Amino acid sequence: MIYAHQIFVCTNQKSSVGHDVAKALKHAIKDQDLKTVRTADGEKRRNAVQECDCLDRCKHCKKGNGAALVVYPDGVTYGDVQPRDCATIVREHLGGGRIVSSLLLSQ
Ligand code: FES
Repeated sequence: MIYAHQIFVCTNQKSSVGHDVAKALKHAIKDQDLKTVRTADGEKRRNAVQECDCLDRCKHCKKGNGAALVVYPDGVTYGDVQPRDCATIVREHLGGGRIVSSLLLSQ
């Protein structure tokens, strides 16, 4: 099945926050019933979360207490994300197509 969105979460921090964020995203996707969505023409698409080693945004990860993550195919990068932010990212970005500007990673 083709993806609606794939989220890659950096897990290269000293703490376990990246793993915790990935887990919270997966729970939020399930809780909000967004694991599978349909396009306007009825095609099924999945929303998936993958842990990855590093997104090469390390300066940002090491400055904050959270994790960096990128949402494809939109190419939107969020930074210093905590598990408590995940329901909002899923509801607004995956469910509503709205970028969560307060969590955007500044360049
Ligand atoms: S340590 Fe998070 S992007 Fe590299």
